[in-house]
Formats: sequence, C-alpha cells, structure tokens
Amino acid sequence: MSRVYSLYSTSVGKKFTMAVSGAIFVLFVIVHMFGNLKVYLGPEAFNHYAEGLRGFGEPFLGHEWFLWAFRAGLIAALLIHVLAAWQTSRQSWAARGHKYRKRDNLVFHYASRTMRWGGVALFLFIVYHILHLTTGTLHPDFVPGDAYHNFVTGFRSVPVVVIYSVAMIALGLHLYHGTWSAFQTMGVDGPRINRWREPIALGVALIVVLVNLSFPVAVYTGIIH
Ligand code: HEM
Repeated sequence: MSRVYSLYSTSVGKKFTMAVSGAIFVLFVIVHMFGNLKVYLGPEAFNHYAEGLRGFGEPFLGHEWFLWAFRAGLIAALLIHVLAAWQTSRQSWAARGHKYRKRDNLVFHYASRTMRWGGVALFLFIVYHILHLTTGTLHPDFVPGDAYHNFVTGFRSVPVVVIYSVAMIALGLHLYHGTWSAFQTMGVDGPRINRWREPIALGVALIVVLVNLSFPVAVYTGIIH
C-alpha cells in the first residue's frame, strides 16, 4: 500500500491516475452518447433502453443493482480524477508555471489553458444534469419513468439549451486535451503513434460534441417531439 502511495505522490503517478480515471469517463461519455442516440428511434425505443439500464443483469442481480454499482464506480472515478487534478495543480503552482511545450495550434493551446476551469465547469454541469434529467429536481415537467418525455420537454427551454451547449464545448476541449495528454502519460508515444495522437483526440472530441449538441438542437427545432 505504501508503495502505491509513494508512486501516487510523484507528479507522474498523479498524471497516470488522472489518465486512467479520465479514460473511464471517456468510455462512459461515448457509451452514453450511443445510448442517447436511441431518442431518434422514438419514445418506445428510448424508454425501453432507459428501463433496460435499470433492469440490467436481472434475474442474476436485483433491480437497479448493476446501475448502483455502475454509479458507485463513476463517482469513485470522478473523485479520484478531481483530487489528482487539484493536487497536480497545486504542485505545478508551487513549481511556478510548469506548462506543456508550447505548440502553434491555437485550439490545442486554448484547450490546454482551460483544463482546470473547464474541469470545474464540467463538474458543475454533471451535478446540474443529474438534478435535471435523472432526479428531475430542476426539471419543470418531470415524469418519473418517462425518460423520453423528460428529455424532450427538458430541452424546450432556451436557457437549458444554452447551458448544455456551453457544457458540450467545455467537454469537447477537455476531451481533446485530456485524450491527447493521456497518450503521453501512458507512454503511448513514438514517431508513428504521435502522428495519430492529434487526429484521434480531435476526432473523439468532435464526434462527442457534435452528436451531443444534436440532441438539444433536434428538440428545439422540432425534429424530436
Ligand atoms: C446533450 C448531451 C446529453 C444528453 C442528452 C444526456 C441525457 C441523459 C439522460 C436522458 C439521462 C437520464 C437517464 C435515465 O435516468 O434514464 C442522463 C443521465 C446521466 N448523464 Fe447524461 N446526457 C448528456 C451528456 C452527458 C455528459 C457529457 C455526461 C458526463 C460528462 C453525462 C453524465 C450523465 C450521468 C452521470 C447521468 C446519471 C446516470 C445515472 O446514474 O442514472 N451526460 N443523461
């Protein structure tokens, strides 16, 4: 245990921890995006999918057991990611302005500068998003068990569309820079791989942002109703 802690206490150990916990979130965001695409198939398909998540693993597991284990894993990954990010920030402030090598790409530069505040914005978005679409606390017309209705009525308001759109841009920048630097932290680099690093990071970020933005836009323009 003490060896694990002494590895974690180095800046490389913290970056590695951030890369692994971040990768769990990247996978979740991609799977979540594919799941949400079912909204284009109509209310029955989407509600069936949402109910399927709650009953996943039955009859071997009880109702919602898998969902709660999954939630516990995500919360653990989020806490670890935030803690390691906060400690890394403190270390680099103490070392005064340790930054990645400067690159000429403006989007990359901007994404790297916004990792901390973008991360805080994303954290606040996740809290808002759960209170909006999972518990319904911040949803004006929430119907428990009718995920399609909550989805569609939830995006009929301009402020909500603005919140989601800003959050998706923050998510895109975070994913872009996070994926790029995770490759380096995990030691996945070298002349051949480096050529693919940027397009992979940019591709993942762009696909997630564009597909996720399509949901509020589709509701707002009446494509989904
Ligand atoms: C426009 C983009 C998004 C849409 C339309 C969307 C939609 C939804 C919906 C409908 C639910 C409720 C599912 C249910 O209770 O049956 C949900 C839950 C959730 N979403 Fe999203 N989501 C989006 C983006 C995100 C992003 C970017 C993240 C993470 C960074 C995220 C994290 C979560 C989490 C953690 C839950 C709670 C899952 C649970 O424990 O039940 N979502 N989302």
